[in-house]
Amino acid sequence: MIICYTGTGNSLAVAQHLADAMGDNVVRLEGDILTSPGQNTIDISGHKRVVWCFPVYSWGVPPVMCKFLKQITLNGDGTLPHYMVATCGDDAGRTHTQWRHLVSARGWDARNAFTVVMPNTYTLMKGFNVDPADVEQTKLAKMPGAVEHITQKILSGGRGDEVLVGKWSLIKSGIIYPWFVRYAMSPKPFHHTDACISCEICARSCPMTNISMVDGHPQWHDNCALCLRCYHLCPKHAVAYGKATINKGQYHNPSL
Ligand SMILES: Cc1cc2nc3c(=O)[nH]c(=O)nc-3n(C[C@H](O)[C@H](O)[C@H](O)COP(=O)(O)O)c2cc1C
Repeated sequence: MIICYTGTGNSLAVAQHLADAMGDNVVRLEGDILTSPGQNTIDISGHKRVVWCFPVYSWGVPPVMCKFLKQITLNGDGTLPHYMVATCGDDAGRTHTQWRHLVSARGWDARNAFTVVMPNTYTLMKGFNVDPADVEQTKLAKMPGAVEHITQKILSGGRGDEVLVGKWSLIKSGIIYPWFVRYAMSPKPFHHTDACISCEICARSCPMTNISMVDGHPQWHDNCALCLRCYHLCPKHAVAYGKATINKGQYHNPSL
């Protein structure tokens, strides 16, 4: 079974490709199961493995996934091997170490961790933007081969992680990640610009059901995963985050 959290579709594309290659099915984390994992159960009986597929956020596991890994009940064989397949735009730092701690703390068997490089989606700080079109296309073209390699490694029981850790990983994951989670994940700066056409795509597609329409325009509440689906899916580029998104690009994977 592949359990997938995605903001902009990259992790979903990887999960679907993995599922086809391994003959598994994908459970998508959206809505109630994502916002209330403590009240939900996933039945893993009859499955051979659990693959956790999610994006890297600030060189760590997205807080919404941390909560999920801590609170979800998995019904079935508690001895199944668990794997991480995380997508990142550049590098993942020590995301795999954090994932392994979270999985082991539940008493589950954390095996190999992998990363797949996909188009960048983070646009909320100075200097961060989506990739140029040629870089985006190159990353997307390499994905199937990377996923097939991961599939072979999982199915053959090969040992060892294959993670793009990158430079300064201890600083990025040990210092910047906790700072980011505490100070840079607020949904408060989200607003709509005059280009908003009240299409409701942002509100209807939010995986956290955190956006409601007020007087025909989106209003963001406090339960935001910062996945940026609202920003990237807006057909008029009318979702803004303070001034950080001025002149930034948009991207979403066709899997969404
Ligand atoms: C809040 C946030 C933080 C991110 N941090 C990182 C990061 O630390 N390293 C990285 O390589 N990519 C980072 N990214 C990019 C995503 O990990 C990458 O684009 C991923 O494939 C998006 O997956 P999704 O489409 O399934 O949401 C970040 C994206 C977001 C939204």
